[in-house]
Amino acid sequence: PLQRCASRGGAAPDAAFRFRFEGSPPMKVLGIETSCDETGVAVYDTAIGGADGLRAHAVYSQIALHAEYGGVVPELASRDHVRKLLPLIRQTLAQAGLSTRDLDGVAYTAGPGLVGALLVGAGVARSLAWALDVPAIGVHHMEGHLLAPLMEDDPPDAPFVALLVSGGHTQLVAVDAIGVYRLLGETLDDAAGEAFDKTAKLMGLPYPGGPQLAALAQTGTPGVFDFPRPMTTRPGLDFSFSGLKTQVLLAWRGSDQSNATRADIARGFEDAVVDTLAIKCARALDATGCDTLVVAGGVGANTRLREKLRADAQRRGGRVCFPRPALCTDNGAMIAFAGALRLQAGQHGDAAVHVVPRWDMETLPPVAAAV
Ligand code: KG4
Ligand code: ZN
Repeated sequence: PLQRCASRGGAAPDAAFRFRFEGSPPMKVLGIETSCDETGVAVYDTAIGGADGLRAHAVYSQIALHAEYGGVVPELASRDHVRKLLPLIRQTLAQAGLSTRDLDGVAYTAGPGLVGALLVGAGVARSLAWALDVPAIGVHHMEGHLLAPLMEDDPPDAPFVALLVSGGHTQLVAVDAIGVYRLLGETLDDAAGEAFDKTAKLMGLPYPGGPQLAALAQTGTPGVFDFPRPMTTRPGLDFSFSGLKTQVLLAWRGSDQSNATRADIARGFEDAVVDTLAIKCARALDATGCDTLVVAGGVGANTRLREKLRADAQRRGGRVCFPRPALCTDNGAMIAFAGALRLQAGQHGDAAVHVVPRWDMETLPPVAAAV
């Protein structure tokens, strides 16, 4: 049964303000992300808060490494994190004008993700924290995504509904408070980003196809290919995208396979995914009585999804909040920010290097001192 969110009543505050941390003292937190095929490092300063609190961040993408295999090769990913992580930490600290001795805490992605890749970040983070005698915390990757929009100006207040759309997850989550999450619905098969990537691949686009398919869709004509909006005609908040991928395959095989057709199919596919996500978001907002939607994860960078959800929010008289596109896809900033929230609330792990390849976000402890 769905619990209703308490209504905030009325519009968003008009003056831009930034997320502020409670509890003292403030901390400079190093964030490390190595859950998949991006090495991300950042420093977040809670004394500043908001977007300016992000003192520096850098992402090294392994796209070129995995491209010839058409997907992420876990062992190659781990090895490349080993190669890139320390140089990236040095570079990020230099950009922030800080040394390791200035750090008050270390946050790293502890899961979900590829176990070998996660262990690289966890090992480095724990060792650094041990050497510096500062606390370290393992952050849930999807909580990192979910909280990323709070770094931007005029951040939303809980309760809100979050749409998490990445390469591995498609989830609707009721956020009752920071750290208090209820799963409202999720994909039964492919994640939205995975559907983008697989659809791109079957039409011959190189890995990772999602952003390329989206770019191609810009040049396609809407309505030439009209794909179904899966699971929208029956009640519920779950998703299914694998059938859509098959529909695209059949349409592509039966077509002239020209560049123009590829673009038209890309547009038809993107419109189907965007509509489906938007319909379920509206349903989740209705079911919970929330007026605020937060969108995060790689597919949150999709221009058409952002436009559609903005138009819907305007029509409903509610709000939709996204991180800037660079903070939608995997990055260290979201891990530094989420870790800072928990570290400043007094939470941290022991010295063990521990990762959780499969991890349910509902089991996380609340962040009592936050907001
Ligand atoms: O959050 P993310 O960087 O990594 C995971 O945690 O999975 O998400 C990556 C996913 C990929 O499937 C990628 O194709 C998709 O996000 N993606 C996009 C766009 N940018 C990234 N999908 C559609 N349109 C985009 N502009
Ligand atoms: Zn991610």
